[in-house]
Amino acid sequence: MTVELFRHKGRLSLGLPAEPEAGVLCVDFADPSIQHRISKALSGEAVVKAMGQRPQTHSPHPFFNSNQIFDTETHLIDATAGLGLDAFILACAGWHVTLIEQSPLVHALLIDGIQRALDSPNQETSAEKLTRAALSRMYLCPPGSSLDVLPTLPEAHVIYLDPMFPDRDKSARVKKNRYLLQQLHGEEALGLNLLPLALSLARKVVVKRPARALPLENLPPSAAIKGKTSRFDIYAGKSKRLIMP
Ligand SMILES: C[S@@+](CC[C@H](N)C(=O)[O-])C[C@H]1O[C@@H](n2cnc3c(N)ncnc32)[C@H](O)[C@@H]1O
Repeated sequence: MTVELFRHKGRLSLGLPAEPEAGVLCVDFADPSIQHRISKALSGEAVVKAMGQRPQTHSPHPFFNSNQIFDTETHLIDATAGLGLDAFILACAGWHVTLIEQSPLVHALLIDGIQRALDSPNQETSAEKLTRAALSRMYLCPPGSSLDVLPTLPEAHVIYLDPMFPDRDKSARVKKNRYLLQQLHGEEALGLNLLPLALSLARKVVVKRPARALPLENLPPSAAIKGKTSRFDIYAGKSKRLIMP
């Protein structure tokens, strides 16, 4: 099915011309549901809990300032960035987040969403101020597979993986974003070989899975945190200094 990139309501968007009812994909951190989410206690977010200790960093991402000392403790790599929502929540929670996305189309949506949020003049509510601070803690790598990009990055405390999951039932159609992403991606987006690589590079690896799915690569995690519809599988990486949540 052909996926098309176009401007919709001022946002770079992806859609299926043959299926307009499937809606459009875009990155919009100013969306009221996202702003509402970050205005509540972030410690209640399952994705935040799964990462464990919450770093309190107020400085911009070190990639923006070569004089800044790189601190592994605050560095988290989102190796399957997608539309950047999890990465944004984690940056709001205080992590320096490096984002990697393999699809050039999804990557273009991310650039557009980040740029629009940075250009936005409003900074009055605490959620708007938090958005601005979180964006300064996010660094988006050029498009590429994490299999190639991860080994080139400075060490991270956590590597986060949320690869595509092959939905066999019709429920994916209800979740429009998921359905559209599935039309866009093939086998390359299922996260194959990412887990062993991530385990060799970080102190901790967190993998998001549908609540009742098998673990990625069938590798049993050391611990898991359950969200409403998802599960966060937690693995100890190469470092012995891992602190479980
Ligand atoms: C389910 S989405 C991630 C959603 C994301 N957590 C969010 O909050 O928006 C999965 C994304 O991972 C990307 N991906 C899968 N394998 C990848 C790889 N090896 N390198 C980089 N990105 C990858 C896919 O292109 C897809 O956009």
